[in-house]
Amino acid sequence: MNTLYTERLVLRPFRESDAAAMYRNWTWDERVARYCRWYPHKSVEDTQAYLSICMKEEYCWAITLKGTNEPVGSIDLVGVNSFGIPEIGYVLAHDYWGRGIMTEAVKAVIGELFANGFEVVGACHAVGNPASGRVMEKCGMKYFATVTMQKKFGSDEKCEVRCYRIYK
Ligand SMILES: CC(C)(COP(=O)(O)OP(=O)(O)OC[C@H]1O[C@@H](n2cnc3c(N)ncnc32)[C@H](O)[C@@H]1OP(=O)(O)O)[C@@H](O)C(=O)NCCC(=O)NCCS
Repeated sequence: MNTLYTERLVLRPFRESDAAAMYRNWTWDERVARYCRWYPHKSVEDTQAYLSICMKEEYCWAITLKGTNEPVGSIDLVGVNSFGIPEIGYVLAHDYWGRGIMTEAVKAVIGELFANGFEVVGACHAVGNPASGRVMEKCGMKYFATVTMQKKFGSDEKCEVRCYRIYK
């Protein structure tokens, strides 16, 4: 997996030593977890366990601001969705919202996945989380379906998600 460089960001592989910064910056935070499929972490040990899963993924980048090396978010290929489309997921620490950071990160990752042979990339967001849909739109992705999904891992609750995709 390549490190990706954008105007303001470095997207790099995660390291074992990132757990403390991840916990401090976002994994504890209900505001960030609200529309994600994981529950806020209760301790840095929860984050360490989650991090070891991220580190095994083929495509999972830590989002860092240039010159800091500190992870403020993550972006990864979460799997293939029910439409057979490889799907990305992303998360950013609350302090950094609203500055165009995720749009910059998602554009870079879409470009990298296309360069790695992917023909299409998808993403979905909960209907209550339109900011994420706006990121998808700003990255050139097009809405194509709304589906019902499991809201959280380990829960029976469902939620409606809006699905987007972009072709190479
Ligand atoms: C969703 C998230 C990734 C957005 O990251 P970000 O860096 O703040 O996004 P950007 O600044 O690039 O773009 C956000 C856009 O959403 C818009 N937006 C913000 N709140 C909005 C709302 N309630 N309704 C509609 N649009 C909204 C912003 O105005 C901006 O669009 P604009 O540039 O046209 O003004 C970030 O808030 C986050 O990590 N949230 C928690 C985790 C999460 O929801 N992940 C996605 C799961 S699908």
